[in-house]
Amino acid sequence: MFSLLSFETDDRLRIRITDPKHQRWEIPTDILPRQTNPDTFPEKPKEQIPNNLIVSDPNSDLILTIHNTTQFGFTVTRRSTGDTLFDTSNSVLIFKDQYLELTSLLPADRSSIYGFGEHTKRSFKLTHDQTLTLWNADIGSANPDVNLYGSHPFYMDVRSPNSDGKVLAGSTHGVLLLNSNGMDVEYSGNSITYKVIGGVLDFYFFAGPTPKLVMDQYTQLIGRPTPMPYWSFGFHQCRYGYKDVNDLEGVVAGYAKANIPLEVMWTDIDYMDAYKDFTLDPINFPLAKMSAFVQNLHQNGQKYVLILDPGISVNTTYETYIRGLQADIYIKRDSIPYLGEVWPGIVHFPDFLNPKGALFWGDEINRFRDLLHFDGIWIDMNEESNFITSPPSPSSKLDNPPYKINNSGIQMPINNKTVPASALHFGNITAYDAHNLYGFLEAKATNDALVKITSKRPFILSRSTFVGSGRYTAHWTGDNAATWDDLAYSIPSILNSGLFGIPMVGADICGFSQNTTEELCRRWIQLGAFYPFSRDHADKTSTRQELYLWDSVAATSRKVLGLRYQMLPYLYTLMYEAHSKGTPIARPLFFSFPEDTKTYDISTQFLLGKGVLVSPVLTPGAVSVDAYFPSGNWFSLFNYSSAVSVDSGVHVRLDAPADHINVHIREGNIIALQKEALTTTEARESPFHILVVVSKSENSTGEVFLDDGEETELGGTNGKWTLVRFFSQVVNGKAMLRSTVENGGFALSRKWIIEKVTFIGLEGGDSGQFGVAEISGLSLLIGKQFTLETSSDDFGYTF
Ligand code: NOJ
Repeated sequence: MFSLLSFETDDRLRIRITDPKHQRWEIPTDILPRQTNPDTFPEKPKEQIPNNLIVSDPNSDLILTIHNTTQFGFTVTRRSTGDTLFDTSNSVLIFKDQYLELTSLLPADRSSIYGFGEHTKRSFKLTHDQTLTLWNADIGSANPDVNLYGSHPFYMDVRSPNSDGKVLAGSTHGVLLLNSNGMDVEYSGNSITYKVIGGVLDFYFFAGPTPKLVMDQYTQLIGRPTPMPYWSFGFHQCRYGYKDVNDLEGVVAGYAKANIPLEVMWTDIDYMDAYKDFTLDPINFPLAKMSAFVQNLHQNGQKYVLILDPGISVNTTYETYIRGLQADIYIKRDSIPYLGEVWPGIVHFPDFLNPKGALFWGDEINRFRDLLHFDGIWIDMNEESNFITSPPSPSSKLDNPPYKINNSGIQMPINNKTVPASALHFGNITAYDAHNLYGFLEAKATNDALVKITSKRPFILSRSTFVGSGRYTAHWTGDNAATWDDLAYSIPSILNSGLFGIPMVGADICGFSQNTTEELCRRWIQLGAFYPFSRDHADKTSTRQELYLWDSVAATSRKVLGLRYQMLPYLYTLMYEAHSKGTPIARPLFFSFPEDTKTYDISTQFLLGKGVLVSPVLTPGAVSVDAYFPSGNWFSLFNYSSAVSVDSGVHVRLDAPADHINVHIREGNIIALQKEALTTTEARESPFHILVVVSKSENSTGEVFLDDGEETELGGTNGKWTLVRFFSQVVNGKAMLRSTVENGGFALSRKWIIEKVTFIGLEGGDSGQFGVAEISGLSLLIGKQFTLETSSDDFGYTF
């Protein structure tokens, strides 16, 4: 056994334990680039590693101690507090060919663990005594606790204070086991045990010490979230089972008639000819009609996204299939292309590990886009999903490994309904090792292709993901059901995706399988309007659920999507923050309030950015909601005046009548809003409104990032962007707002103006009420810095 230990950066420690005698599978660095610094302690055989070796770096808060007596173990501690973060010294490390095991102890009462996905969980904080299995599978997200579409062996550990008072609440670190093989992670509360069926033990520790810093450090390693086009923050409508182009047109018209914003219309596999990728059904979705339909969408400032599945129909009259065969890019088993079965019948799967496979895929996308001008691609079924389970190969140890991970919650064979583990990729890489990378690689190939073809920022939505997928794609949580449970579980799911570095995420609004109801759909759009990615999608067999179908749903949609569209500059700025620092768009409350340990258990609310709190209704029949508010003054974003004011975190019962969701902004925040509209393009043309939530105890800050919304780079070196930072203080009853501008030229070229500034949270008088002061009729150029200094009189408000 070798181990390599290094401080790769001040905040990142790597411990890689491998086998000196046999080369083992590791994710190649050209697939997942990761910078490695010269090792502080290079690989050494176990015999040469002294006992109690301490490896530290003066600039790092992490200290590593290697124990090498009869058994090998290591401890990671935090220098500044003495807190033990990871400790394997009391357990045996197993390092066999198809089985690796390692256990770390945890202080059960002080450690709150989040992560290890993808699973549907009832609570965001992981509960004790559970096994988390990681093996990508086409299992609907309506099934809690089992392995789903993605694999992310990453967790965040948020600590509560210890008895000597050295560890402060919210001290946070992250741990990644970079390994693509199947695994079970057993979490008992006071320990984590990894049981992995291949590869090596390649651990990364991220020092934090805040949740935000952990995300910064984690995404620095795995890749920053890819920027999303501005339009993708609009509302999306999809359905499996749209019958024909008329049906699509009817839906678009339905939204227009009901005055509900619709940015993107989607088609599921229905548009294809016999479910063959890159073809159109000549009867129901003929090219001429589809082209006209897409052109029409574009004329109205709307977009079109279509689905692609990886399985290529085996059919000698199908040109895509033939080109793939000629290029020799299909995954093989027993030296011939593996035959699976998906929607079109029997299929081969392109091998995205093969550089030629990625090129083939890009070329097919290019040819198809020449025919039909789609704006984004939805990649589904890429776990890889297979309708058949091929029998294990008697000569292979891979199809039936000795340790059975808890696949599907019942130790299903790993080959169950996927490409068998003994299948081979380019370079003789086995599906056993690369299985969990398939969706990641497809997203990368699709992203590369779209950048090349369009020279614009791509929009890709992938079901399957792995560590680093956020560099290429957005994600949705897969096949949920139209149930109240799944409405609630969507919150832990989207928060997890954020921790995995995939901040553009949403769940199928109103539910995918089963029939939704008016009330559920109404509550779901109220929540879904605040998902980073907001899409209504349903299964073929469920009843229709477009938002205009019920009057009450339509009315609430206008209201909540109206607020979303006003908040587009804010959401987009959060995308910029995610892309530059890895901070999720939708965040758990402890990201902003790590010192408040009560936030660690919250699974029913979340923050957008640092200061917008979403508190949805998640149960039938409810007309109020029990919401937790960390300390501060919070104001409704719908009317600015109704306030929740709490000195320390408490649960508050809020009214939540049928048409309402509670969305509050906290003191200390400044956000840029624009006017609501039916498309993002229209909203972007409207003047800005700066909302300043003043605070007695802190300065208020905020920023807005502006660019054209589709440059491939976000905030890159081309300088075609503007960043405006806002700052506000109240001194002696006078409120002021100041901006500083980076790269103002871009915003000036667009002539964007601020028309209105609203200060809320002004305190004064005896009534204990908060004042609202609005200055309208302004025409301040947002690209030019300004200072507004006003006295209370200027606002015309009195207490
Ligand atoms: C499975 C996907 O999860 C779902 O969203 C889609 O509608 C169906 N495949 C059909 O393509």
